[in-house]
Amino acid sequence: MSETRAVTFPDLSAFKRAGRKIVVLTCYDALFARLLDDAVDVLLVGDSVHQVLGGHETTLGATLDQMIYHGAAVRRGSHHALVVVDMPFLTYQVSIPEAIRNAGRILQETGAHGVKVEGGRHLVPTVSALVQAGIPVMGHLGLTPQSVNALGGYKVQGREEGVAKALIEDARALESAGASALVLELVPRALAARVSAAIQIPTIGIGAGPECDGQVLVLHDMLGLNEGFTPRFLKHYAGLAATVREAAERYAAEVRGGAFPGPEQSFE
Ligand code: KIV
Repeated sequence: MSETRAVTFPDLSAFKRAGRKIVVLTCYDALFARLLDDAVDVLLVGDSVHQVLGGHETTLGATLDQMIYHGAAVRRGSHHALVVVDMPFLTYQVSIPEAIRNAGRILQETGAHGVKVEGGRHLVPTVSALVQAGIPVMGHLGLTPQSVNALGGYKVQGREEGVAKALIEDARALESAGASALVLELVPRALAARVSAAIQIPTIGIGAGPECDGQVLVLHDMLGLNEGFTPRFLKHYAGLAATVREAAERYAAEVRGGAFPGPEQSFE
């Protein structure tokens, strides 16, 4: 779908009220931002960049400067999509003034429209303070990757009723604190449906089933560039790893065989 008017945070809730699904992809650079901008509603500059592009095991080592670099690149490549940048681990947990300063840097230095933070009720004062400072906030519940060590791995959250009820309360608390939307990662479909019905702000699911108000996937995963990563929730919309490998092999063969560069690529 191609739209010319830039998407805003209030639009996301309006989309939910209208029953229009919200389309989100992660994006880390200007080149892909230009390619994705018209197709999606939100470009999420996820701290997954630290894993996907950086080759790290977890997101924990991502830094504020790194997120600002990628956020600014995505903003340079986009005009239509709402751009949300992940606040990395330890940039919003230490104190509220630090969280405001760091989120403010993200907005000032990247031109992004809002930030995403991971966590539930304990973040209510922080989310309220950010929102009061004019910084839109997207929450993130369920499997929160910055807590992977505490959670014991990347596994589905909220299968037990007690945990499910706590997650619904967390969602309500974040909504009351002023969050504009909520990512739900790796939760059972029925729980995501309960959360989505319990709050007015939209839920954006990843591994959370079709009842969410929108969906997000990691771009490089859905393009089939991350070959070894095949979790149940992922669908490949392209198989680019094979395309890239084949192009590199043809290039190598032509360079080694003397076919590249040919006369067309050479200057007299
Ligand atoms: O960092 C990220 O890419 C994310 C999405 C998986 C939601 O948080």
